Amino acid sequence: MKTYTCVLLSLIITFVASAQNLPSQKMTVFIDSLMGKMTLEEKIGQLNLVTPGSDIPTGSVVSKGVEDKIRNGNVGGMFGVIGVDKIRNAQTLAIKDSRLHIPLIFGSDVIHGYKTTFPIPLALSCSWDMKLIEASSRAAAIESSADGLSWVFSPMVDIARDPRWGRVAEGAGEDPYLGSLVAKAMIKGYQNNNHFDNTAVLACVKHFALYGAAESGREYNTTDMSAVRMYNEYLPPYKAAVDAGSASVMSSFNDINGLPATGNHWLLTDLLRKQWGFKGFVVSDYTAVNEMTAHGMGNLQTVSTLALKAGMDMDMVGEGYLTTLSKSLKEGKVTLKDIDLACHRILEAKYKLGLFANPYKYLDADRASKEVLSPNKKALAKTLAEHSCVLLKNAQQTLPLQQTGTIALIGPLANDKMNMLGTWSVSGNYKFAIPVLEGLKNNVGNSVKIVYAKGANISDDSGFIKKANVFAEEITTDRKPPEVLLQEAVQAAQQADVIVAVVGESANMSGESSSRSDIGLPECQQKMIEALAHLGKPLVLVVMCGRPLTIEKEVSEASAVLVTWHAGQEAGNAIADVLFGKYNPSGKLSITFPKNVGQVPIYYNHKNTGRPYIPNESSKFKSDYLDVSNEPLFPFGFGLSYTNFNYSKPTLSKTEIKSNEKLTIKVTVTNTGNYDGEETVQLYTRQMMGSITRPVKELKDFQKVFIKKGDSKEVAFTLSTEDLQFYNNNLKRVFEPGNYKIFIGTNSNDVTESDCVFLQ
Ligand code: BGC
Repeated sequence: MKTYTCVLLSLIITFVASAQNLPSQKMTVFIDSLMGKMTLEEKIGQLNLVTPGSDIPTGSVVSKGVEDKIRNGNVGGMFGVIGVDKIRNAQTLAIKDSRLHIPLIFGSDVIHGYKTTFPIPLALSCSWDMKLIEASSRAAAIESSADGLSWVFSPMVDIARDPRWGRVAEGAGEDPYLGSLVAKAMIKGYQNNNHFDNTAVLACVKHFALYGAAESGREYNTTDMSAVRMYNEYLPPYKAAVDAGSASVMSSFNDINGLPATGNHWLLTDLLRKQWGFKGFVVSDYTAVNEMTAHGMGNLQTVSTLALKAGMDMDMVGEGYLTTLSKSLKEGKVTLKDIDLACHRILEAKYKLGLFANPYKYLDADRASKEVLSPNKKALAKTLAEHSCVLLKNAQQTLPLQQTGTIALIGPLANDKMNMLGTWSVSGNYKFAIPVLEGLKNNVGNSVKIVYAKGANISDDSGFIKKANVFAEEITTDRKPPEVLLQEAVQAAQQADVIVAVVGESANMSGESSSRSDIGLPECQQKMIEALAHLGKPLVLVVMCGRPLTIEKEVSEASAVLVTWHAGQEAGNAIADVLFGKYNPSGKLSITFPKNVGQVPIYYNHKNTGRPYIPNESSKFKSDYLDVSNEPLFPFGFGLSYTNFNYSKPTLSKTEIKSNEKLTIKVTVTNTGNYDGEETVQLYTRQMMGSITRPVKELKDFQKVFIKKGDSKEVAFTLSTEDLQFYNNNLKRVFEPGNYKIFIGTNSNDVTESDCVFLQ
């Protein structure tokens, strides 16, 4: 009987294994046979990604003669072509007019939603809600695939600790653990859990790697860091995306320790493929191959060779591969094997998508009309926006607002459509966006009197406006002079019981190529807030932005502060729901707010140093500043609710944990306030002594729980030695036994600590 069971089991195992291998064997046979028919030029053609530039290009050049190139087999994929009709035309050219009828893949920057625009990624990460984040990328995949796309340039998972860098808007903030969970959730949503039906698209994790560590927060700038920091702090989200099966990876613009990422063999082959086992294809960022010439790596032929040899498969827009690889082959600078390998990887992606079986798989106009801008996606956009808001201050319970009396709605972003969608909403249409004024009216009808005044322009600095308005007139200069705008605002505010001022950044004051050295509110907005604060009425600031801002003064002037980021097309409706308490805010910062730019880079999981700063103590020879304390304005993980949550003292299942045991930590959270609400309970640890210096805190887990007013919930976490692993100086992932601190709390700063020992 026993032998029979064993035989049966092994048969089942063999069957499952071969069934799993079947598609890949079939795929290899198919691709090998196809490649047997391809000319060298056709193979190189597969490595060429073009954009015809009819929609918004994101670099300074666009591709020329695209139709002929498709016919001649010189194109592997396209991006920036939007809509079923246009994509069908291009696919038809490839299928009907090219010699081997190889289908194209169609990509786009689907970054936070597609045509239905969700809050910017930084905002979404503040929800700390992985189900919602997955739902956002699932919805974006369904909508964009219905409109013809098969590939999205997302998620962007670059860890960023420097809010001067405008692209903090596109990522999930500063923390490797939170960032890794977000990366995984997004890949799952896009790729439909790797089930490539016609609602799944290829994800493309970017920008590999370390792009967020650009020196001085200046766009495209150099990165240089220790391997230990890389492995422990910056690489985890990319790895999480690869582990989740990301079908493609985009190399970054920056150089890393002296070698541009796009031509970096260690990065793209040794680490990505050999260590992490990545099986998909690598695409360069926009003209990043060519840009290696400016980096000082040689002429176009040399840098194209460097990129191909490094493991970079697809060349975005620059056509270095198209124009130089056959010459390099003749001169022996690259081998046919190098070209074949890259070509094979691109064809594999097309095969996995099912495009060889049906090149028109994503081109169903009926699906497009059903899915694009559908009501359920609009509803999701609102839910996401509500969950992304972070309440930073709420003195005297100013919020939620009463649904009676008069509200003065003031500010350059209070009645604005243009800036609601935020950066990287290339397929979104701002005309569908709901401004706050409209949202408030939708919400309370006539029960509240709303008086509106613009109060100020977003900025009055003409040089700045010119640069920030590069895509569209997002910062408008009112016909009325600034003094008149301000006067009108004060007059409106004088009639009101409460003032709501909607301030912040225009959509593209953050995002790509939008670094700022001063991350405060523009002067005219500061002045407006000051004037409103002088009236002595309750003042609520609604702050729309794509990065943390240095708003210490404005926070002190206001009674309540709600950061909404750029909240997407349903911004106004969602913000109104939050202001009136129909949704109780639950967002927590995924990135630290500094007090001033001098504190930057500032992040909660820093090292202790040999002379650690002691809060509230003024002493010489400590790691601190003369002119500002070390504390941030708001720490990582911070976010208030309209209710209060009281934490019990955490209990540990034991204080000495053997290597095969798990530690359980329990805490009871009680909702002691007047509203039902959600709280994100956070667990951090600190290794007290290690083979290398270790951070003062590291997020290890969190749970978002809904607790009715008056109720309590017990939250339990388990920790094993695996959770405490890190990369040591030899880049080995290890657990080191010894003393640890366990912190539980409502944000990275406000925690209760316990001690325990993890034994070998
Ligand atoms: C950006 C990428 C983007 C690409 C294509 C580049 O400028 O860095 O994030 O995916 O353009 O639009």
